[in-house]
Amino acid sequence: MLFMKSFEIRRKYIEFFKKNNHEEIINFSLIPENDPTVLFTTAGMHPLVPYLLGQKHPQGTRLVNYQICIRTQDIDEVGDNTHLTFFEMLGNWSLGNYWKDEAIRLSFKFLTVELKIPKERLAISIFKGNGKIPKDKESESIWLSLGIKKERIKELSDNWWGPAGSTGPCGPDTEMFVYVNGKAPKEFDPKDKNWVEIWNDVFMEYNKTNSGYEFLRQKNVDTGFGIERAAMVLQNKSSVYETDLFENIVRKINSMSKGENENSLRIIADHLRASCFILAELVKPSNTEHGYILRRLLRRSMRHARLLGIKENFIPEILDVIIEDYEKDYPLLRANREFILTNAGLEEEKFQSSLEKGLQQFRKMNFKNKISGEDAFYLYQSFGFPLEITKDLAGENKLKIDEETFNREFEKHQEVSRKGAEQKFKSGLADHSEETTKLHTATHLLFQALRNNLGREIKQMGSNITKERLRFDFSFPRALTKDELKKIEDEVNWQIRRDLKVSRTEMPFNEAMKKGVNAFFREKYPEIVSVYIMGDYSKEVCTGPHVVHTGVMGHFKIQKEQSSSSGIRRIKAILE
Ligand code: SER
Repeated sequence: MLFMKSFEIRRKYIEFFKKNNHEEIINFSLIPENDPTVLFTTAGMHPLVPYLLGQKHPQGTRLVNYQICIRTQDIDEVGDNTHLTFFEMLGNWSLGNYWKDEAIRLSFKFLTVELKIPKERLAISIFKGNGKIPKDKESESIWLSLGIKKERIKELSDNWWGPAGSTGPCGPDTEMFVYVNGKAPKEFDPKDKNWVEIWNDVFMEYNKTNSGYEFLRQKNVDTGFGIERAAMVLQNKSSVYETDLFENIVRKINSMSKGENENSLRIIADHLRASCFILAELVKPSNTEHGYILRRLLRRSMRHARLLGIKENFIPEILDVIIEDYEKDYPLLRANREFILTNAGLEEEKFQSSLEKGLQQFRKMNFKNKISGEDAFYLYQSFGFPLEITKDLAGENKLKIDEETFNREFEKHQEVSRKGAEQKFKSGLADHSEETTKLHTATHLLFQALRNNLGREIKQMGSNITKERLRFDFSFPRALTKDELKKIEDEVNWQIRRDLKVSRTEMPFNEAMKKGVNAFFREKYPEIVSVYIMGDYSKEVCTGPHVVHTGVMGHFKIQKEQSSSSGIRRIKAILE
């Protein structure tokens, strides 16, 4: 096995796939451009969805890149050896080109020939099958033919990837694991943490729609190879934090800290790296959307810094180390250095005294064995404690915590504050005037009409509403015909004339999905969602506001239909 620096792994990967007739595509912004409803790019495949659905990619059908990703759903696991909220993913894709045989052979060759990982250290998982979709026998036999022993291949029912949102491309996957601590045991035990998953080949031949699974027009391969984990394996380390990717960051934190606490050290290193890249997108800490994720990461780092005896103003210094480490591959960091350091510093200053006061208050509070959702919410509202801090405190004090009630309180509060403040809405709504409210309702009707006329697979990719017009971006591979536009326009107008009653309800997200409620392509919904229902015509997850009866909206008119970016169409429409 080779010893390899992380930049070499990245270069080797890209070169290997280029040599095998792949085109390198750019890495995308951490914040998806065409979809205000998805907070962050969570996988390399994310910006490729239209092409996985059949749109022609200008660079062909064999692609490769590296992509920065954020996955906040892994936040509770940060601190172990392998989980991170921010990571770099290398990926190669076949858009209806090669299939399982070539995909697996390429992966195997890269691991064993390019990286020289002995096949004796590899283990594989494949899709076990479920009632609806059969076991992935084909992948199993390819691995066997490559010399992987039967006892090193496990069938698992969760070897299924996607869709990234509630609908979209998905399929069975086969994952590759490398043993990291000494000699690999004969048999693969997926529960043994020494087997580190480094690569995932997803065979995307299905499209999940609101009514079930259907075959995609083409068979795609989507793979993801985590650079941090690969570095851990190739640098012979037992955690990602010991690799060169974290070396300087960890050294800097250690030089400031007065105590030892590996868990806190890791959380700070991960969270500040993620924060640095979010700030580089010119996001400021706030109470909504990206800004709120950023705030949570920064504040939790501050609390863990206290556990290491670091008192104040440590964040900008560490961010500076991160900028220096990563600017070569990510020039945005250097370009926005001032912004990054200033805004992180301001947030640190702002939360300083609240953190102290909140911790004092926490010590005074009398918990039996459980922190109630109301108490957790009180700590949030009065001291700005994001749930993660209170959860950490609960864990350290062996208390349970009622997250569900907290989340419900939080949602309620968000809705109230949204009504007052000038904030960006999921819908892109900036104010609540009569005009924008009507156009917002029109947007729901338009989305439904598009799906009825062009196919259920249409996805909302973005929306923006001003007093004058609505703008709606959606996934579709070609321009709409005059005829189609007329039909869509007529359908919306007919629903307006029917004077549909608009009502709002709340329901668990899962139930909404079962009922076929429209939703955006997004990372994660709260457990309970707000749903707007327009007569018998449209149901959509949304926080509003909307008109009460569609009859008041006037006449709907499409002004323009054009390409927004490849695979994405844009409609501008007005009410007159
Ligand atoms: N989308 C898959 C993953 O995230 C492969 O890239 O693992």
